[in-house]
Amino acid sequence: MKILITGAAGFIGFHTANVLLDRGDEVIGLDNFNPYYDPKLKEARVAQLEDKKGFTLIRGDITDRETVAKAMNGVDRVCNLAALAGVRYSMEHPEEYILNNIQGFFEILDEAKKQEIPGLIYASSSSVYGGNDKSPAQETDRVDDQLALYGMTKKDNELMAHTYNKLFGIPVTGLRFFTVYGTWGRPDMALFLFTDAILNDRPINVFGEGKMQRDFTYVDDIVAGTVAAIDKNYDEEIFNLGSGRQEELMDFIATIEKACGKEAEKNMMPMQPGDVRASLSDVSKAKEMLGYEPKTMISEGIPKFVEWYKGYYKC
Ligand SMILES: NC(=O)c1ccc[n+]([C@@H]2O[C@H](COP(=O)([O-])OP(=O)(O)OC[C@H]3O[C@@H](n4cnc5c(N)ncnc54)[C@H](O)[C@@H]3O)[C@@H](O)[C@H]2O)c1
Repeated sequence: MKILITGAAGFIGFHTANVLLDRGDEVIGLDNFNPYYDPKLKEARVAQLEDKKGFTLIRGDITDRETVAKAMNGVDRVCNLAALAGVRYSMEHPEEYILNNIQGFFEILDEAKKQEIPGLIYASSSSVYGGNDKSPAQETDRVDDQLALYGMTKKDNELMAHTYNKLFGIPVTGLRFFTVYGTWGRPDMALFLFTDAILNDRPINVFGEGKMQRDFTYVDDIVAGTVAAIDKNYDEEIFNLGSGRQEELMDFIATIEKACGKEAEKNMMPMQPGDVRASLSDVSKAKEMLGYEPKTMISEGIPKFVEWYKGYYKC
């Protein structure tokens, strides 16, 4: 297949493109290399993709219709992963989220309609569950209680995709990713921040007094679910992609300390606005309809990340 991946220089986009290229698909990667975090990391990811047969990079923005039209030309699937992905940053810069996540997704959807693209798979987020305290979270739960502007933009994407499916028949699959971690990970996320601080002898900020629980999902599992969604190409579905397990934040930190061979100095801090205390996915729908089987435990995934970090940053 010929697949357009937006956000291909990003953490999940890079890993997804890698797997698709390795199995022989053609991948068009579209990314604007925005400076939300160090663009050098994005360049380094893309440099790896450019070494592979079948990869074409387009440097450009999903909010620009001409770029989107060119990138989408003749593709069998669009996988929209481009977005501003930080929950906390969305509190201070809501306008950037409206532009990139909502306007950008609109351009993708509307161009997909125009070009009659056979399938659109897009990243939503566990953030849509917001204040829903039913656990584990299921796709059929109400998701009207967003606690962060970021989650609001993802819920908006789901509504737009639904409307375009109903009005124009575009096949759309939304993927609600639960806290993804792994090699080549994002510098604004907990695993990266904690590893970086511990290895460089700086204290770590532990929010929610360490009493938070998260469904941490290894990136290889997320990619397997994403690729299955691209292949199945259902008419209209939403899937949770998580690990289906819940980890205590303090156990997560202890696993990082073990992998780093050092204990962290911890600043215990209150909850931050927009954060949820706990997340846990029910992945039975993805198991049944996508053959999704998350395999990687944090005891295996965290050491892989720390090894990558040490190699990449030469420490
Ligand atoms: N990582 C997670 O834990 C997680 C959890 C839930 C949902 N998601 C979603 O998954 C997707 C991928 O996340 P990620 O962790 O790989 O983030 P990321 O920031 O590493 O990747 C996103 C990429 O999109 C690009 N981008 C952003 N706006 C763009 C625009 N207007 N035009 C072109 N490119 C643009 C960025 O430069 C970046 O390379 C996002 O939609 C995110 O919201 C991620």
